[in-house]
Amino acid sequence: MHNRRLAAALAVVASAALAGSLALVRPADAASSLKQSAEAKSKYFGTALVQSNLSNSSLVGVAAAQFDMMTPGNEMKWDTTEPSNGSFNFGPGDNLVSFAQSHSMRVRGHNLVWHSQLPGWVSSLPTSQVQAAMETHITTEATHYKGEVYSWDVVNEPFNEDGSLRQDAFYNAMGTGYIADAIRTAHAADPNAKLYLNDYNIEGENAKSNAMYSLVQSLISQGVPIGGVGLESHFILGQVPSSMLANMQRFAALGVDVAVTELDDRIQLPASSANLQQQATDYSTVVSDCLAVTRCVGVSQWGVGDADSWIPGTFSGYGAATMYDQNYQPKPAYTAALNALGGTVSSSSSTPTTPTSSSSSSGGGGAACKVTDAVNAWNTGLTENITVSNTGSSAVNGWSLVFTLASGQTITSTWNATISPTSGQVTAKNMSYNAAIAPGGSVSFGFQANHTGNTAAPSAFSLNGQPCSNG
Ligand code: XIL
Repeated sequence: MHNRRLAAALAVVASAALAGSLALVRPADAASSLKQSAEAKSKYFGTALVQSNLSNSSLVGVAAAQFDMMTPGNEMKWDTTEPSNGSFNFGPGDNLVSFAQSHSMRVRGHNLVWHSQLPGWVSSLPTSQVQAAMETHITTEATHYKGEVYSWDVVNEPFNEDGSLRQDAFYNAMGTGYIADAIRTAHAADPNAKLYLNDYNIEGENAKSNAMYSLVQSLISQGVPIGGVGLESHFILGQVPSSMLANMQRFAALGVDVAVTELDDRIQLPASSANLQQQATDYSTVVSDCLAVTRCVGVSQWGVGDADSWIPGTFSGYGAATMYDQNYQPKPAYTAALNALGGTVSSSSSTPTTPTSSSSSSGGGGAACKVTDAVNAWNTGLTENITVSNTGSSAVNGWSLVFTLASGQTITSTWNATISPTSGQVTAKNMSYNAAIAPGGSVSFGFQANHTGNTAAPSAFSLNGQPCSNG
């Protein structure tokens, strides 16, 4: 009798423990980030990073939680990797590759041959020496990164808008054949990398994409190992071409992969909320188009958030081009992209079991709340995204969320909140920009932590002193 009661008690404990660990892999979690939702559809979702981004903890938190592919924004370009003839510098690119590897991201190598960010010494070479310089550059760089990159943009932006080839140093020295030569040279150095041609304004059907199409056909007919076509996709708000899907399909039908490689959608500043809704529609369209094409392997955004985007520095008066705002808070475009992938932002739809408390509407006060969370763990670290929903009927103005970290976990960086201390029972406090949680609304924040084997989610959440439901 006594033993049976003990066994029953143990069974309860065991099932509670099991429920706890199952909570980490519940379907809602699996679909609550861009990368997990993309992976569920056999695609990736990528971002571009530059070295200086790695010291921005808000940016890194979002990058680690959301993206599973990384394109170095500048660090693999010729002006960085071979600033003078025969002298190579792979340090900056290597740093980004290490970051990607430690965050379970693959790498799109970008790029080997391009008219821009090309050091002056290349354009000053006598034409008779350009081919050897190009081949040495490609061989040295692709060999250095052999086995570490998923793909290479071998030739970047080869076309003019009318579909003619740019008269750059490579074309002037070698004619059209430089493209086949570059791809063959890259293939010899790294036979497993997918080899791409990448360009902008080839997303829809037009003179430039027709020229790219003919080039790919011709390369295939010559047996050149072209693996894919990158559609940069630097869009202007509301101008995603209606022929983008058909265009991707025609390339795929040639037997090459396609990828959206540098997505952003610029808005004339200041951006209105109607603009942000249109941007959400644009992102959704692009993601849906990729999903509709089996050989569209993934979508990469150019940068993580509006604060690190290249747009304001390049297109005067424009900005707000990404899925995350200046503070790395998700914008409507994020939700739209996630939803298009079949994912959902951690839900606040289920009814709370204990709708407690009449919280006061100012100065914080008590709260009725629900917490959902998603853990992404790798061998020594993890990121945790936490969404707190206000399930009460009054606004929360200023919040403190107390919770307990799993043992052995130590927080190393946070985003969208401050958290202290770094282990054990901790308190997350709002930032100035996310202090208010409207009734039915939610805020998301997260952290990165080291762990010693226990990757469990935190537990025992309470918001402004009131326990929250979890899950
Ligand atoms: C951009 C970078 O983001 C900037 O930092 C740099 O100053 C210029 O290049 N097409 C490409 C990318 O293929 O390499 C470009 O990146 C954006 C346009």
